[in-house]
Amino acid sequence: MADEPDVSRRNFLKTLVGLSAVAAVGGLGKAVVQNVVTPSVGLSSFPETVLYWVPPGSNSGTPVPVKASEFPVNSPNIWIYYYPLTDDPNFLINLGNSSNVPQKISPVPVTIDATGVVFQSPGGTGPNGSIVSFSAICQHLGCVPPIIRYYPPNQLSILSSILPGPASDYPNGVIHCDCHGSTYDPSKGAGIITHPTYKPLPNVILAWDPSTDTLAAKNMKGPTIYGKSSDLSGGTPLSNLQKTLMIQMSVG
Ligand code: FES
Repeated sequence: MADEPDVSRRNFLKTLVGLSAVAAVGGLGKAVVQNVVTPSVGLSSFPETVLYWVPPGSNSGTPVPVKASEFPVNSPNIWIYYYPLTDDPNFLINLGNSSNVPQKISPVPVTIDATGVVFQSPGGTGPNGSIVSFSAICQHLGCVPPIIRYYPPNQLSILSSILPGPASDYPNGVIHCDCHGSTYDPSKGAGIITHPTYKPLPNVILAWDPSTDTLAAKNMKGPTIYGKSSDLSGGTPLSNLQKTLMIQMSVG
């Protein structure tokens, strides 16, 4: 239906999660994930797509536009939406400190180690400048959530043997992939903290409308989405290019 966000992606995410679990057990990694991608027409340009969700605690279950001021800080659950194509999951994260106070995220230069190319991250958006968004496909071998996920500051003790410095070096948490140990800094454009990845996560450029408090994805920066030659091809366009539905995934 033209006016509804693309709810069909729920099923696709379940497929990804199921396959990721199989990959984790069987050590198959990205090869399995990429095989579910069906080549198709793609897009000629990035759409501007408003993020929808069913807010936590909603009685109606009806998707509505995400209100940036209501989006949880340091959410313990994973929030995913698809953009620019239906096989492209992305994180939406409201970064906060250890007291769950949202933190303004400034644009910074980010190096793609694999190529030496440097790009400028967009920084945070929303009323506190704290909301960021990145591809949720690991740039090493393509593992997907929940195997790759955001660890807020109060969960960094889980990664103490992996992180190269004390938790205080990562005051806004990290994104970590359990497949092989890659770690990314969400407060620095998802730049690399630990290998084996040699590429940061692609950054989604968000637009925040202060008059409505809504968020829209409108472009991407950084490396190409893992497994693709172009962000705009190799998958299927959203059924409604103006809206995409956020999906919440529990951790463990
Ligand atoms: S797929 Fe290897 S670290 Fe993520």
